[in-house]
Amino acid sequence: MEPDSDGRFSAPAEQYDRFMGRYAPTLAAALADAAAVAAGMRVLDVGCGPGGLTNELSRRVGTENVAAVDPAPQFVAACRERHRGADVREGVAERLPWPDASFDAALSSLVIAFMRDPDRGIGEMARVTRSGGTVAACMWDIASGGMTMLRIFWNAVREVEPSVDGEQRLAGTVEGDIVARFERLGLEDVVGTTLVASADYVGFDDFWEPFTFAVGPSGRYLAKLSRAQRMRVRDACRTALPDGRFSLEARAWCARGTVPAPDRGRARSAPNGESRLTGCSLRGRCSRAYVSAATVAREGARWPRYSLREPRFRVRTS
Ligand SMILES: C[S@@+](CC[C@H](N)C(=O)[O-])C[C@H]1O[C@@H](n2cnc3c(N)ncnc32)[C@H](O)[C@@H]1O
Repeated sequence: MEPDSDGRFSAPAEQYDRFMGRYAPTLAAALADAAAVAAGMRVLDVGCGPGGLTNELSRRVGTENVAAVDPAPQFVAACRERHRGADVREGVAERLPWPDASFDAALSSLVIAFMRDPDRGIGEMARVTRSGGTVAACMWDIASGGMTMLRIFWNAVREVEPSVDGEQRLAGTVEGDIVARFERLGLEDVVGTTLVASADYVGFDDFWEPFTFAVGPSGRYLAKLSRAQRMRVRDACRTALPDGRFSLEARAWCARGTVPAPDRGRARSAPNGESRLTGCSLRGRCSRAYVSAATVAREGARWPRYSLREPRFRVRTS
């Protein structure tokens, strides 16, 4: 078992609920809509946390048709407890504990940024999804500040530490990044969208206290500051927010794609851990490009399924 890389999600489920989980009802519904999750499907929630998305999926398809996985044991326990009947396991996206083609759709909400190898994780999501099924993932818009709560926090931190990067280098946080990964890995009909979530706060303390729980990169960063620095960050956040109750919007980048049919290649994890398309005899001899007509003409007799009618077959090599 590979643990959550640096304990960024070692907080109790209830603390996560108050921090990021309060965006889950609106974000999960938007992601499930983007992936067209509906009754009759069997679906997987990758990086489920305490189960915000698992909850929305269970509502749509029934808990018995939902599986979920997360490396944080306390989140797995909470998700199991909250969704009796769902198949909730401890594990990582990069090595999903289900056989090929187990699901109609695999979804992942706010996890790509925290995977050790996001491409491998997406490749695994495609592997466990049937041909023609859907893979969908979303991550907060950090780069252009669409996740208001985190924008206010990191702007406040920059008043104390101007050079801090925040979370903007994490995978998926820039527009187009998840789409590019999906396309690179050979998913088809890839569509990028933005999702809008929101959360309500009863006042400033309700906003600030969850940052002190040390959940995720922002909370972990705050915990490392001196008390005086923390107070300066708090005051800068206070100035940026209204008195009394308020709501904050949060934008997420989202991509969904379709798992190709076997004769068009299939995304799966190679034994060396690299995700790539298999089913193509030309693997290892083509760069990341479309198979050319000349190659099909040369190899077509040996591998008849690669015909000129499918010039879009794409391969990726190490
Ligand atoms: C921001 S939380 C998102 C939780 C939940 N999906 C949600 O939308 O509220 C990130 C989650 O990713 C999990 N995680 C971290 N590394 C992971 C990996 N390699 N594979 C799967 N999940 C991972 C963490 O344990 C944590 O639960």
